[in-house]
Amino acid sequence: MLKFNKTAKALAAVAAISALALTGCGRSEPSGGGATTAAGFAKDATIGVALPQKTSENWVLAEGLFNDGLTSAGFKPSVQFANGGVSEQQNQISSMITNGAKVIIVGAIDGAQLGTQLQQAKDAGAVIIAYDRLLLNTANVDYYVAYDNYKVGQLQGQALLDGMKAKKAAGPYNVELFAGSPDDANAKVFFDGAMNVLQPKIDDGTLVVVSGQKTFEQAVTQGWKAENAQKRMDTLLAGNYTSTELDGVLSPNDTLARAVITSVKAAGKPIPTVTGQDSEVESVKSIMAGEQYSTINKDTTALVKHSIQMVQDLQAGKTPEINDPTSYNNGTKVVPAFLLVPQIVTKANAAQQYANDKILGPLTK
Ligand code: BGC
Repeated sequence: MLKFNKTAKALAAVAAISALALTGCGRSEPSGGGATTAAGFAKDATIGVALPQKTSENWVLAEGLFNDGLTSAGFKPSVQFANGGVSEQQNQISSMITNGAKVIIVGAIDGAQLGTQLQQAKDAGAVIIAYDRLLLNTANVDYYVAYDNYKVGQLQGQALLDGMKAKKAAGPYNVELFAGSPDDANAKVFFDGAMNVLQPKIDDGTLVVVSGQKTFEQAVTQGWKAENAQKRMDTLLAGNYTSTELDGVLSPNDTLARAVITSVKAAGKPIPTVTGQDSEVESVKSIMAGEQYSTINKDTTALVKHSIQMVQDLQAGKTPEINDPTSYNNGTKVVPAFLLVPQIVTKANAAQQYANDKILGPLTK
């Protein structure tokens, strides 16, 4: 059922918008000048990593981890951000192909806008791995590695309910809904996961979306930009909450959660229960201070590590490990996926969740 849901939601995303390695310690074989092994490719091959814009800390972390991990594994990494937008990302992927990249790992700005470049990459014999965000409407994507995005949404929806209940035992609760950027295939998946939990509570009257803005299209935040979420929250507060209490806000990530909280504070209102995602430093501080209610722990290190393991397997001529062969229909094909499990974090379990994190762990003491 869930699998069906995931397929359905991926298709819905299509309609709506149109995986340290390493041996680490050095490889014993000399790295040859581009000789390709029987089934794989050279041990010192160029590996392209096309990242989107720096819309959240996880992408910045990924940049460093890919550079370090791929280098330690003996590859030549080409890791690039496309802060200028889709056409910049298209050009970067084209350059990676020209530079002979054997694997191109893509965190797409817009998963539906890279078809031409992915075809070129395939024609050049490169393997394409969709990283964190699915690539849509193309046969030219070989693997998908990500945290379970639908589960992220479900955890957010449940956290919203739990947080509000902890403050006020019974509803009805007044809530507003925020979604991510509609060009990012994940945004609708997060929203659908959350609504899987929240919709029945809207239907039975436990939750009231006072603004009436309940659809994904109404809830989106273009470009995942904090200022867009803050502006929309300002408008929602002014139009609906002058004399009405706001109990909770579904926010799809930490950047937007903090924007919502900034808006509420500026309006002189009490901070409602606000969800998040990404375990960003400022949001973990906010959670420990009792402001933001929850975030999601999606350890970027583990995601990058699995992606690099896939590259190593491909280099050795092995089939990379996947754990979900059926759920991710991108509109053209079912993409074999390796999914990691996201975890909900609140003040109550933050110390345990970040126990091994050198940056976040100390913030929880
Ligand atoms: C990622 C989130 C991130 C968002 C904005 C999504 O695709 O999965 O972790 O918060 O992009 O950068």
